[in-house]
Amino acid sequence: MTITLITGANKGIGYETARRLVEAGHTVYLGARNIERGQKAATELGARFVRLDVTDDASVAAAMTTIGDAEGRLDVLVNNAAIGDGPGVDGINGPSGLNVFDTNVIGVIRVTQAALPLLRKSENPVVVNVSSSLGSFWAVTNPERHESHSSFIVYGASKAAVSMLTVQYAKAVPEIKFNAVEPGYTATDFTASFGGGRPVEESAKVVVRMATIGPDGPTGTFQETAGELGW
Ligand SMILES: NC(=O)c1ccc[n+]([C@@H]2O[C@H](COP(=O)([O-])OP(=O)(O)OC[C@H]3O[C@@H](n4cnc5c(N)ncnc54)[C@H](OP(=O)(O)O)[C@@H]3O)[C@@H](O)[C@H]2O)c1
Repeated sequence: MTITLITGANKGIGYETARRLVEAGHTVYLGARNIERGQKAATELGARFVRLDVTDDASVAAAMTTIGDAEGRLDVLVNNAAIGDGPGVDGINGPSGLNVFDTNVIGVIRVTQAALPLLRKSENPVVVNVSSSLGSFWAVTNPERHESHSSFIVYGASKAAVSMLTVQYAKAVPEIKFNAVEPGYTATDFTASFGGGRPVEESAKVVVRMATIGPDGPTGTFQETAGELGW
């Protein structure tokens, strides 16, 4: 049985990833910061709810204790929870920037650090960091990519940091596989104010693909649906 934790999984891409991994036979711990939303989602999917706010050290520690006590290890961690800031430059300030970085970047560090002891007890430990092509220097400077035609200043910088964390962790902890993914522009609450986007069923595929790699799978890569993506 594969033991999997997904952060921010009460809706959107995280929820669909949880659905697919439950279907694939994983024991899925569905992380959510809100008890009601998390419990409802976990019940719908046949997953186990664990309260986890990625900005709160105590809740992250408590979530790991819950999983450790019940399972003794963690095989797959999907760092999915994130928030955005609007496009453009207006409205950016220190507190809002700190909030985005606290959730999207420090959240990944908090959860990953807390999960390391349980991941090290797995035979095939895997971490998937849900990043974004808006954090890819290659994509945002490539006129042929849509990412180069808009500015998401703080969000893009936060996802560039998530991608760098992926590479650094992959080098520092070779016994665990760390990969970053770009799910693709998706219709979720995250993008509701912009409109459009593909269904979560499409976007969760790459997350599931990288969450289910075997012992010979890659580490330190950035993947989108079509394959490897430039940093
Ligand atoms: N949608 C896209 O087009 C797109 C494209 C590229 C990358 N991504 C990435 O894909 C991931 C999922 O995005 P999505 O589109 O599915 O967004 P979403 O529907 O807004 O879901 C985000 C999830 O993160 C949770 N969350 C936010 N702050 C949290 C915190 N402090 N602690 C724990 N959970 C927290 C939210 O919980 P609440 O319900 O409590 O707010 C929600 O469950 C994100 O990493 C995002 O950056 C999305």
